[in-house]
Order: sequence, then structure tokens, then C-alpha cells
Amino acid sequence: MKFITAVFKPSKLDAILDTLTELGVTGLTVTEVRGYGRQQGKTEVYRGTEYEVRLLPKVKVEIACADEAVDKIVTAISETANTGKIGDGKIFVTSLEAAVRIRTGERDSQAIEA
Ligand SMILES: Nc1ncnc2c1ncn2[C@@H]1O[C@H](COP(=O)(O)OP(=O)(O)OP(=O)(O)O)[C@@H](O)[C@H]1O
Ligand SMILES: [Mg+2]
Repeated sequence: MKFITAVFKPSKLDAILDTLTELGVTGLTVTEVRGYGRQQGKTEVYRGTEYEVRLLPKVKVEIACADEAVDKIVTAISETANTGKIGDGKIFVTSLEAAVRIRTGERDSQAIEA
């Protein structure tokens, strides 16, 4: 099993959810987050004064999935979230050791499939 963490622009959330539903993803977690990449946020001018915005709003989506599913999910998120502009986001993939569906006690692959 793998655990996918994707951070992207909030304006892309609806499209990402549509894409993941089409792919048959049966569960995910969405969190509103703030962060910075290599530009370290940006400087914005408001009424003539420069304000430094160190942390920009992003959306984080977390998905536990089977090893076989990771490539298509990562590709789909990457293509859907891409605007070609800075700040489009990042996708991280880690190994997932265990999963439990609390209601039934099912574990691992049984816990993350429909
Ligand atoms: N190394 C990192 N570790 C954890 N989170 C990160 C990392 N890099 C970026 N992020 C998260 O992803 C968000 C978007 O990053 P961003 O797309 O600006 O990355 P970047 O490396 O600066 O690429 P780009 O040059 O395309 O902007 C950040 O606001 C932050 O939440
Ligand atoms: Mg950046």
C-alpha cells in the first residue's frame, strides 16, 4: 500500500475530486493548509504598502491506495492540478504499513477497498 499526499492550488479542488472519483478512488481526506515552496511565498502590494505573504493557502489531499493504483492517481492529480505557473504544488508518495477499517476491523487492502 502507498500513501499519497498531494498539495495544490485551492481552485483545483473540484477538478481533482472529479478526476479521483472517475478513477474509482473510494476514500480520501481533504485539508485546507498553508505552505511555501522555493519562492517562499510572495510579496503583495496592498494600497501602496508591500506585504510579505510567507504562507500561501493550499489544499492537501491524502489517499491510501494499493501499490498498483499509485501511478494512475499521481499522474491524474499532476495533470489536473497543472496550470504551468509557480505554486502548482507537489505530490509525495510514501509506503503505508497498515490500514484499519474501524467499523469492521478489516485490515490493509481490505480496509481501503470498496
Ligand atoms: N519540500 C516540501 N516539503 C513539503 N511541502 C512542500 C515542499 N515544497 C512545496 N511544498 C508544499 O507545496 C506547496 C506548493 O509548492 P510549490 O508548487 O510552490 O513548489 P515549488 O518547489 O516552489 O515549485 P514552483 O517553482 O513550481 O512553484 C507549498 O505551499 C507547500 O505547501
Ligand atoms: Mg513555488
